[in-house]
Amino acid sequence: MTKIAIFASGAGSNAQKIIDHFRETASIKVSLILCNKPGAGVLQIAENEGIPSMIIDKEKFFRDDAYTDELKQAGIDFIILAGFLWKIPVALISAFPGKIVNIHPALLPQYGGKGMYGQFVHQAVIDHQEKESGITIHYVDDHYDHGDIIFQAKCPVLASDTADTLASRIHQLEHQHYPAVIEQLLQSKITYISRLRLSFGGQSLRQGYGGRSNTQYLIPNTFPVLTNSLQFLLLLAGSIEAPIYHTTAAFIPPVQC
Ligand code: GRF
Repeated sequence: MTKIAIFASGAGSNAQKIIDHFRETASIKVSLILCNKPGAGVLQIAENEGIPSMIIDKEKFFRDDAYTDELKQAGIDFIILAGFLWKIPVALISAFPGKIVNIHPALLPQYGGKGMYGQFVHQAVIDHQEKESGITIHYVDDHYDHGDIIFQAKCPVLASDTADTLASRIHQLEHQHYPAVIEQLLQSKITYISRLRLSFGGQSLRQGYGGRSNTQYLIPNTFPVLTNSLQFLLLLAGSIEAPIYHTTAAFIPPVQC
């Protein structure tokens, strides 16, 4: 059983879709919801669904253990950010390496970063007279909207769009894809390794995503013990650069809608 925690700060429509998607899946369960805003819609969703929730205390999140103890105690394996506005502290990233994903309502690497959330994103896209926008699902690192991209889907920006009309088109894309991509991530037999440099050995597969020059290395995870041993040996030999992320990852090309 894979236990998911969802971090959200707002209405929680994505959280609701994810909960709905996994309701009948025996092997994957949304087990905890964490929120930094008392009164946020997502807390009502947690209550309606009978899912335990926690209000995040800023001090504990940023200066203490970032709730890693609570998450580990709850047996959480994977963290999904769904409209969570705070930056994720290194303590949490280190405790869940390669196991935290986020969704951003634009085509990263454009229109991301500090202050780029909600209507600010959509207004910036409109102000720059972009012809298309979309969604980006990505791994989380210690910069805003920066980790390796897993999936993107696009939609048109119409001349008549306001930030609100574009937001609602983007929300539809999010609801359509986020739960399915998460499922693929959790069920894929691929090991995701980030920021890894192989100087010798190991089969690597390089792939750049549209508009982004990051590189992902994917190694089939059929024999995880073997793979982990190989990585350990390579580390010992000083031939690769940590960190190595042991997790499952989808390898999904961008989608045009
Ligand atoms: C979504 O647009 C998501 O991309 C962004 O925050 C919004 C959350 O919406 N990170 P909701 O609370 O899930 O409705």
